[in-house]
Amino acid sequence: MKALLLLGGFGTRLRPFTITTPKALLPIVNYPFIAYQFELLRKYGIEEVVLGVGYKGEEFKKAIEIGKKMGIKVYLSYEKKPLGTGGGIKNAEKFLKGKEPFFVFNGDVLADFNLEKILNFHKEKNAYITIGMVKISDPSSYGLILTDDEMRIIKFIEKPKKEEIITDTINAGLYVFQPEVLEEIPKNNEVSIERETFPKILQEGKEMFGYIHYGYWLDVGTIEKFKKGNFDLIDGKIELLYKKSEENLDKKDNVLIGNNVVIEGKLIADENVIIGENSKFKGKVIIGKKSFIGKNCTIENSIIFENVFIGDECFIENSIIGNSVILKNNCEVKNSALGDNSFINQFSKISN
Ligand code: GTP
Repeated sequence: MKALLLLGGFGTRLRPFTITTPKALLPIVNYPFIAYQFELLRKYGIEEVVLGVGYKGEEFKKAIEIGKKMGIKVYLSYEKKPLGTGGGIKNAEKFLKGKEPFFVFNGDVLADFNLEKILNFHKEKNAYITIGMVKISDPSSYGLILTDDEMRIIKFIEKPKKEEIITDTINAGLYVFQPEVLEEIPKNNEVSIERETFPKILQEGKEMFGYIHYGYWLDVGTIEKFKKGNFDLIDGKIELLYKKSEENLDKKDNVLIGNNVVIEGKLIADENVIIGENSKFKGKVIIGKKSFIGKNCTIENSIIFENVFIGDECFIENSIIGNSVILKNNCEVKNSALGDNSFINQFSKISN
């Protein structure tokens, strides 16, 4: 069975990081996000994956290598202009068509979907399309889905107004499609699968079902949720790829830690990280490859990407520091997101 990941979006809500790196290649606990998707697919024996890419599409050549190491064969389906979610699926038709159903995933969802159960459900219901759904407490910024007692979809409500919130089940960004669905989408056009194709198919009277996923689910599309995804993995709220450990320090090869470094919470340090003496880590802190932290720093609940230089006496709290950022001595960074290659001079104060 094949799967398509939709990865062509601009990821504007995750700027500044998506200015340089597409969302799916941003690091989540020091692994590119896409590796979590691959891990889920591998768990269910899916070894062929198509990536529907557009924005920064060339960057996804890296995903071919990531897939190879994980036993997943990756194909790239490029879109010259953004075709939307439906257009992206149509564009990948030559990889997907055949007799079997296939999976489609939004590329920014961290979840432990049970793909076996959803596929069995799809077959039992003889569904044309099955949509993975989750129940959430604030569904206002999502697409709502209303089903009958047999889980047959009866209505879609995209980005509802207050009075339209009549259910807490939302579209979780996972679909099982019969191959014929590809014929429903016009070629070379910008099409939204959620707003155009699904309502049209519903109107035509074809059988669409909703399957509720009760496990972990998070759309990591904003800075806050991106942080949450990282921290939830550390807490073991979802077990996928990253293995939770009980020790305070979880380090890879060649990590150098200076004298009197204090870890109150959890520190995850990737290869070749260097930490200066007397620095202190609170809450959850993730540090990417080859990053350097100076002396007497305090870092709390933050994510530091690769190749970052942080000088002495810096204070960082609730922030994400992009790749190759230079933060000179005595800086204070709070509740902020510093894009790749930022240069911050000494004694700067950045706060949100
Ligand atoms: P924002 O700009 O922050 O809204 O993020 P986004 O561009 O990723 O949009 P959104 O979160 O609504 O997209 C949901 C999923 O669909 C993401 O995985 C996107 O990469 C993907 N997606 C959105 N537009 C396209 C497109 O034109 N083509 C393809 N292949 N995927 C798309």
